[in-house]
Amino acid sequence: MAIRTILTFPDPILRQKAVKVTRFDEELKQLAVDMGETMYDAPGIGLAANQIGVLLRIVVVDVSTPETGKRFISLVNPVISEGEGSVTDEEGCLSVIDYTSNVKRFKKIKVTAQDLEGNPMEFIAEDRFARIIQHEVDHLDGRLFIDHLSSLKRSLYKKRLKKILQAAEA
Ligand code: NI
Repeated sequence: MAIRTILTFPDPILRQKAVKVTRFDEELKQLAVDMGETMYDAPGIGLAANQIGVLLRIVVVDVSTPETGKRFISLVNPVISEGEGSVTDEEGCLSVIDYTSNVKRFKKIKVTAQDLEGNPMEFIAEDRFARIIQHEVDHLDGRLFIDHLSSLKRSLYKKRLKKILQAAEA
C-alpha cells in the first residue's frame, strides 16, 4: 500500500484521456488500494487514476456510512449511460487547489462499469453519489470541474492560483 502524489491543475496529465482497462490483475487491485488510501489521506471523497498520473479508466468513490465505517468502491471503465434531472451544488477537487464552485450535474444517473475482477455491473446513482461519479468520469476524459464554469470564472481562478503558487515559492 502506498499513498501516491496527487497531480494538480495545470498539470497536462490531467488533460489526457485515460484508456480502457483490459487487464484485471493484481496490479490493478493494488492500484485501487493505493487510490483509496490516497483519497482518504488527502482527504477526499473520490479519485480518478489520472490524478495520480495513471492513465487508466478507474475511479474510487467513497461510500462510507456510519454503519459501514470507512468504505469505498472501485469502478473500472465506468460509463454514464443515462442521466436525468439536474442539480446545482458546490464542488471541489483534490487536483484544483483552494477552490470550490457551483456545478450543474445530472440528479440521477445510470452507471455501467466493471469491478476489479472484470465483472460487469450496472446501477442507479442519485444526488451526492451521482455527483461524485460524474466528476470522476470527467477526470477520465481529461475534464476538470472548472471546465463547467464560465470562462470569466475560470480565468479568475487561474489568476488566483498564480498568486497562491507564487506565495508558496516565496
Ligand atoms: Ni476531482
